[in-house]
Amino acid sequence: MGLLILVLVLLVSASSADEDVFVGVNIGTQLSDMPSPTQVVALLKAQQIHHVRLYDTDRAMLLALANTGIRVTVSVPNDQLLGIGQSNATAANWVSRNILAHVPATNITSIAVGSDVLTTLPNAASILVSAINFIQSALVASGLDSQIKVSTPHSSSIILDSFPPSHAFFNRSWDPVMVPLLKFLQSTGSFLMLNVYPYNNYMQSNGEIALDYALFRPLPPNKEAVDLNTLLHYTNVFDAIVDAAYFAMSSLNFTNIPVIVTESGWPSKGDSSEPDATLDNANTYNSNLIRHVLNNTGTPKHPGIAISTYIYELYNEDLRSGPITEKNWGLFNANGVPVYSLHLTGSGTVLANDTTNRTYCVAREHADRKLLQAALDWACGPGKVDCSPLLQGQPCYEPDTVVAHASYAFDAYYHRMAMADGTCNFNGVATITTTNPSHRPCIFPGSGGRNETFINGTSLAPSSNSTVSGCHSQYFYGDIFIRSLVVGGVILWGAAFL
Ligand SMILES: *[C@@H]1O[C@H](CO)[C@@H](O)[C@H](O)[C@H]1NC(C)=O
Ligand SMILES: *[C@@H]1O[C@H](CO)[C@@H](O)[C@H](O)[C@H]1NC(C)=O
Ligand SMILES: *[C@@H]1O[C@H](CO)[C@@H](O)[C@H](O)[C@H]1NC(C)=O
Ligand SMILES: *[C@@H]1O[C@H](CO)[C@@H](O)[C@H](O)[C@H]1NC(C)=O
Ligand SMILES: *[C@@H]1O[C@H](CO)[C@@H](O)[C@H](O)[C@H]1NC(C)=O
Ligand SMILES: *[C@@H]1O[C@H](CO)[C@@H](O)[C@H](O)[C@H]1NC(C)=O
Ligand SMILES: *[C@@H]1O[C@H](CO)[C@@H](O)[C@H](O)[C@H]1NC(C)=O
Ligand SMILES: *[C@@H]1O[C@H](CO)[C@@H](O)[C@H](O)[C@H]1NC(C)=O
Ligand SMILES: *[C@@H]1O[C@H](CO)[C@@H](O)[C@H](O)[C@H]1NC(C)=O
Ligand SMILES: *[C@@H]1O[C@H](CO)[C@@H](O)[C@H](O)[C@H]1NC(C)=O
Repeated sequence: MGLLILVLVLLVSASSADEDVFVGVNIGTQLSDMPSPTQVVALLKAQQIHHVRLYDTDRAMLLALANTGIRVTVSVPNDQLLGIGQSNATAANWVSRNILAHVPATNITSIAVGSDVLTTLPNAASILVSAINFIQSALVASGLDSQIKVSTPHSSSIILDSFPPSHAFFNRSWDPVMVPLLKFLQSTGSFLMLNVYPYNNYMQSNGEIALDYALFRPLPPNKEAVDLNTLLHYTNVFDAIVDAAYFAMSSLNFTNIPVIVTESGWPSKGDSSEPDATLDNANTYNSNLIRHVLNNTGTPKHPGIAISTYIYELYNEDLRSGPITEKNWGLFNANGVPVYSLHLTGSGTVLANDTTNRTYCVAREHADRKLLQAALDWACGPGKVDCSPLLQGQPCYEPDTVVAHASYAFDAYYHRMAMADGTCNFNGVATITTTNPSHRPCIFPGSGGRNETFINGTSLAPSSNSTVSGCHSQYFYGDIFIRSLVVGGVILWGAAFL
């Protein structure tokens, strides 16, 4: 497990100083007990979510969003696409009823025309660009075209050979759509809307993509993926997909169209065939995603160019069909209770009720016992954790196992280090969890119930540096990662992962 999942010291300045970059949230509505628009907006406000995307133009929702300062992307649902793409008048009418009726009170900033049209509704592909053009014409006629941008969200699966990113191109079958679409985006100052799901790429990769790489966990430099054509280093799947989109556009000679990620997320629950759809992984992905986006580092190809992103999604949608994961992409349950608490600090940026202080560092269950013991010794020694509660007769003696004792010591160290990046690693045998590991009478540091357990400079074990000293800055990595094949001097990163 890598170092950085943890404390996300969100750069408040990144979001306030640079209005351009943001993290928003998608609001799907397939819930058996869908909260009312007023309740939805109350949750958005409480969580300081300032950007949302709707999958339609629900009138009550748009009214509830009026005068809130929340920026809204609305959508033309796929089932309305044909009518709009075939008739300028229908498009104008749609804009009048669904947009003009709400602005400026509701701050509609973009219109997503259809959703994954090329991959889910290929028959409508031929009218997609005309639908976009007709809607744009109506906006121009109303003088709204400078404040409302028009685009259409794509599945990243239309990008082929995205590995390495510099080889990427759009499925050529779609050139007749993509070329005029990109011309439109370029001439109107709009952006390419892209859905980016490292979870899906990971699941489809048959082990070629490491979980850590998908979750934005740190990789040792020699395991980072390198695109030999560009010598760019990739540390996560998200960046690689976004760069693949840039390269695919540039292979059609479009080099100045920004990308906005209309959907990205990770499911928190799945069936036995989806073992990595877990609360911890969903939390890790979304926490790291938020930090990555707000840090405004851009991607290797375009450093510093913001990739604003909408998380998929606000609520778990229990009525969605398909595998269990389909119903479990949400950050919140219908009642507004978080499904998990993101590892964020610096509330006030996005998602106000983060509970950074409620993360814990515990031993990995199946970790190597020798490594665990060494890490435990280090924590209680050079790491200066007060391990006295682990002694016989003390509250945390039972259960008397290396895993249990190491968990206590790791958690104590992690909290003493203010949950800083890299302080829950212990050569790879520790992991972050949001589940409170306390068990009576043993109360874990960070659970809020009691005394600090650290003492300065005293320790139960010898204070010389052990072999694992400095463990928070060294990493142990398994040997899993993308295989590299060198063919004719070109590294082909494993199999294509899109
Ligand atoms: C609407 O959102 C845009 C884009 O963020 C912003 O520039 C503008 O000031 C907002 N308008 C209002 C009335 O809040
Ligand atoms: C479509 O309608 C708009 C007004 O809504 C008009 O400005 C534009 O010229 C029309 N375009 C076509 C192709 O008819
Ligand atoms: C490209 O798109 C066409 C049309 O949808 C599809 O039949 C084909 O399988 C796609 N090619 C690849 C390699 O995905
Ligand atoms: C892109 O531009 C280059 C150089 O101007 C040209 O040779 C190439 O045909 C263009 N490609 C496309 C897809 O338009
Ligand atoms: C945040 O961005 C800075 C440069 O802008 C970079 O040095 C730093 O590594 C980034 N942090 C993370 C966690 O990505
Ligand atoms: C979330 O934050 C709001 C305002 O910051 C506060 O009123 C509310 O009680 C918090 N909810 C929880 C569950 O902490
Ligand atoms: C986080 O820690 C602060 C200070 O220790 C405390 O006041 C606050 O209640 C904690 N929040 C949660 C959600 O535990
Ligand atoms: C907490 O600290 C007080 C004194 O500071 C001590 O009496 C008490 O035993 C401590 N409780 C635990 C659970 O360590
Ligand atoms: C422990 O060290 C910190 C920083 O060096 C200091 O502020 C604190 O007072 C110390 N606590 C004790 C109990 O000595
Ligand atoms: C332990 O390691 C730290 C940092 O690696 C070093 O600064 C310190 O001098 C070492 N202490 C001993 C006793 O070797």
